[in-house]
Amino acid sequence: AASPVVLGIESSCDETGAGIVQGGRLLAHVVGSSMDEHARFGGVVPEIAARAHLHSLNPVVRQALDRAGLRADQLDAVAVTTGPGLSGALQVGLAGAKALSYSLGVPLYGVHHLAGHVAADTLEHGPLPRPCVVLIVSGGHTSLLLVRDLVREPILHLGDTLDDAAGECFDKVARVFGLPYPGGPAIDRAARGGDPRAVPFPRPLTGGPRGEDPYAYSFSFSGLKTAAARWAEGHRQRGERLPVADGAASLQEAVADVLTRKAVAACTAHDVKTLVVVGGVAANSRVRALAERRCASAGIELRVPPMTLCTDNGAMIAAIGDLLVRADAPPAPLTLTIDPSAPL
Ligand code: KG4
Ligand code: ZN
Repeated sequence: AASPVVLGIESSCDETGAGIVQGGRLLAHVVGSSMDEHARFGGVVPEIAARAHLHSLNPVVRQALDRAGLRADQLDAVAVTTGPGLSGALQVGLAGAKALSYSLGVPLYGVHHLAGHVAADTLEHGPLPRPCVVLIVSGGHTSLLLVRDLVREPILHLGDTLDDAAGECFDKVARVFGLPYPGGPAIDRAARGGDPRAVPFPRPLTGGPRGEDPYAYSFSFSGLKTAAARWAEGHRQRGERLPVADGAASLQEAVADVLTRKAVAACTAHDVKTLVVVGGVAANSRVRALAERRCASAGIELRVPPMTLCTDNGAMIAAIGDLLVRADAPPAPLTLTIDPSAPL
């Protein structure tokens, strides 16, 4: 028999995503973003995001169905992000998913946003090797995870950020540097013309004792953010022009250095042969280049999903939904609720 057709809906932040996956294969996905509406505020405004989801959800789902050449009544299950994320934004996606599930008479699955980010890679590179280490780096999260079986076993947190996420650090420093929102891509572009050794920014939480450092796989980016802000402020006070390219390149180098060093160390310590890097910051050119170099020299296979599957999207939610359906996981009742601060 043909594998079930699974619709995934994502609405945890500013992207409204719908994706359709069948038997591990991506049939279509469409993302509508309200990013432009937030740009002048320098960050995502929750109320604006929720309203934008309301406008986009039905069109995005319809477009995904059109592109897959399917009718709604050919869907076999609906998966939706229940958290973590912005509560108003999550509510819209969940309400839409419930309505579809109820009206079509198909099971509903509530899924974790980060599990979705991990599952995204399977759409490009096939099933995840067991075990693998996953580095999740986005605007809201920075975590190192040990994944044995995405749907059958709990995910083990090796370490998380103690304060800001890596993407948040890029976004906030970009603002101080006078670069546009979202800051990550802007820093990446600005860094192209800069010297990564120009400013000796700190490498937070990398100084612990070998083998027994409780923060070996934890991250901290708020001190780095402050250091970058102080560096910029110093130039301003002295009436000097800010060498943005050097600042961006040096910041990017510090972030990429810490992320990849810890990710590779986690693989080595747990004797894991595959590192998967997901989330918006996986799009960063220096993170990718350094991860490639360090994985290659440590004999570790590096998997990074294509850019469109790295940032928030519905395909990744359909991907984890598809894994759950095929693992015979129990569907959720229609009383399913959001969990804005869901632990993994
Ligand atoms: O995964 P994502 O789309 O949304 C969240 O779940 O947060 O990640 C968005 C984050 C933003 O902080 C953005 O600035 C960052 O990913 N980002 C980048 C790049 N592209 C996106 N950071 C650094 N370099 C990039 N090229
Ligand atoms: Zn995300």
